[in-house]
Amino acid sequence: MKTVLITGCSSGIGEACARHFAAQGWSVAATMRNPAAAAHLKDIPNIKLLALDVTDKASIAKAVADALAAFGQIDALVNNAGYGLFGPFELASDELIERQFKTNLFGLFDVTRAVLPTMREQRSGVIVNISSIGGLTTFPLNSLYHATKYAVVGFSESLNFELAPFGVRVKVVAPGGVATDFGGRSLALTFSGDGQPYADAIAKVVAAFRARQSARSTSEYLAECIYAAATDGTRKTLYVAGEDAVALVAARKTMTDEQYLAFTEQRMGLA
Ligand SMILES: NC(=O)c1ccc[n+]([C@@H]2O[C@H](COP(=O)([O-])OP(=O)(O)OC[C@H]3O[C@@H](n4cnc5c(N)ncnc54)[C@H](OP(=O)(O)O)[C@@H]3O)[C@@H](O)[C@H]2O)c1
Repeated sequence: MKTVLITGCSSGIGEACARHFAAQGWSVAATMRNPAAAAHLKDIPNIKLLALDVTDKASIAKAVADALAAFGQIDALVNNAGYGLFGPFELASDELIERQFKTNLFGLFDVTRAVLPTMREQRSGVIVNISSIGGLTTFPLNSLYHATKYAVVGFSESLNFELAPFGVRVKVVAPGGVATDFGGRSLALTFSGDGQPYADAIAKVVAAFRARQSARSTSEYLAECIYAAATDGTRKTLYVAGEDAVALVAARKTMTDEQYLAFTEQRMGLA
């Protein structure tokens, strides 16, 4: 039976992934910050809940060791844990910037490094990193989130070159909007109050994002995309997931930079 270790399984895409891999007959090390709160996954036979905070190296080492003790191998890693930091760059504190990078990027690096020796020794494995449409195109007032998610795309593609000789592949999934807790519980703000002197732009962009919520994919659909990326056996690297994301990436390719800025300002209510 193949084994997958997934980060951020308490809700959303991570939880759906845990369920989907388990339904396909995989053993699942479903990791999350607080497994005690995951009663909804507890009774699924081939899912093992493990504590893992991607910003805590000791918890990463323990979760990987526990997964190996339970299942003997790790065939796939899904680096899913992450959250959004929204708001003007100028107003972000050092602490907020560091937390965004520690979670979305350095945490992903640390989990990957913890799993790589096993995959390298097995001479097989696949790593699926969850970036975002925000790792391929940009929106207003998301600069720090984009910085992490663009980094995930470049990191993932490059890693293939050094891991191919060991039979390890690295994939990156870039979802568009997905109906999860991402815009609620998992959204941090760079600003307090109404965010002066950027209050007008913030109000407009928040309204534009809210108006677009109906175009979101489900987390179950994302789980299918991630499973396909992990199991298709190809060297395809980038998987754009969701009709909105596919359309936006295609549209961006037809535009000059000036056209993209004007198009996005118009969509986001800034022009
Ligand atoms: N939803 C979207 O529209 C969308 C679009 C593109 C990309 N994504 C990406 O998809 C991934 C999953 O997000 P989601 O949409 O499924 O949102 P979600 O339901 O809010 O899930 C986010 C998960 O990340 C976990 N997490 C946050 N910080 C963590 C840490 N330090 N250590 C371990 N886990 C941590 C959360 O755990 P807690 O329960 O402990 O907070 C939660 O399990 C993220 O990387 C996000 O950037 C989402």
